[in-house]
Amino acid sequence: MARVYNFSAGPAVMPESVLKKAAAELFEYQDSGMSVMEMSHRGKYFEKIIHDTEATLREIMGIPENYRVLFLQGGASSQFAMVPMNLFRNSRKCDMIHTGEWTKRAMNEAGRYGKVNILGSSEDRKFSYIPKVDRSSFSPDADYFHICTNNTIEGTRYTWLPETGKVPLVADMSSNILSEVMDVSKFGLIFAGAQKNIGPSGLTIVIVREDLIGHAMDITPTMMNYRTHSDNGSMYNTPPTYCVYIAKLMFEWIKDMGGVRAIEEMNYKKANMIYNYIDASKMFRSPVAAEDRSIMNIPFETGSKELDDKFIRDAAKESLVTLKGHRSVGGMRASIYNSMPVEGVEKLVRFMEKFEKDNM
Ligand SMILES: Cc1ncc(COP(=O)(O)O)c(C=O)c1O
Repeated sequence: MARVYNFSAGPAVMPESVLKKAAAELFEYQDSGMSVMEMSHRGKYFEKIIHDTEATLREIMGIPENYRVLFLQGGASSQFAMVPMNLFRNSRKCDMIHTGEWTKRAMNEAGRYGKVNILGSSEDRKFSYIPKVDRSSFSPDADYFHICTNNTIEGTRYTWLPETGKVPLVADMSSNILSEVMDVSKFGLIFAGAQKNIGPSGLTIVIVREDLIGHAMDITPTMMNYRTHSDNGSMYNTPPTYCVYIAKLMFEWIKDMGGVRAIEEMNYKKANMIYNYIDASKMFRSPVAAEDRSIMNIPFETGSKELDDKFIRDAAKESLVTLKGHRSVGGMRASIYNSMPVEGVEKLVRFMEKFEKDNM
């Protein structure tokens, strides 16, 4: 069967060139006589893989020297606990902006270890926008300030960052890391599950400023302490070796594509193709406020459940798959991560046009 255009929110599409390179190296990696999957994480081949993975990520993201990069497991969801356990070191208070399912989970988890101040919420309009917050409401003594830069389910994203001053800004960047240029120095900590823009699920990347490491609460399990992983080069225990290797190929692919700035331009182009069509359409609409629309996850709907279901069914027949919206939102959602080729988006828009014509 030919490959389809996969609009899944994650695990998600990967570039064909990366998959082909992985396939070519699957059986025997360089002259090691074995697959990356089979090799010790303490051997010279994997030592070089993890070193190069980090070096390339640092280069493409412009990560300053005073930040550590950790290759962890447990998904972004584990970070909802690890962040408070490691960062609640003085007031045990954090500020948060509530923008959907993933900040709800972060807030529930942080609330187990300290106090969470919700400074703004878009729950009143089904999380269809990013709330503006007034700087005077920020807690000057908070241990950190948490945001989710791209809301995968609801399809919103930040186009600005709260000016938190000395309070470290923590970002869940699971669904938009490496999709646009970000100034890492504006953040105290960034985390992301890999399964959208970085590779297969099973790897979680944490980028953390050095001074935030080493203050974990006493109850913090060894494996949940950033210091454990930082002191051991992410090799305290066995890292997800094959996922790290694929992340390396993905970072090299971004570099070959011209870096994050070139990828960002492409992402705007792809997202605008869909939004422009939706805005001109008489059948489809976007539930998200225009100024806060994600360029990674694009929810849309017809207003009729039957028509939405037919759209998803008919699209799949045209090899446009996994377009069903999240169960909490309904409708459709096109996730167009870095690896989604422009041709996939063009084909989707052509299909939307035809569907509208045939079903109006
Ligand atoms: C923004 C965001 N945060 C957190 C998560 C949870 O990630 P994981 O499944 O890796 O725990 C997801 C998953 O899709 C997500 O999109």
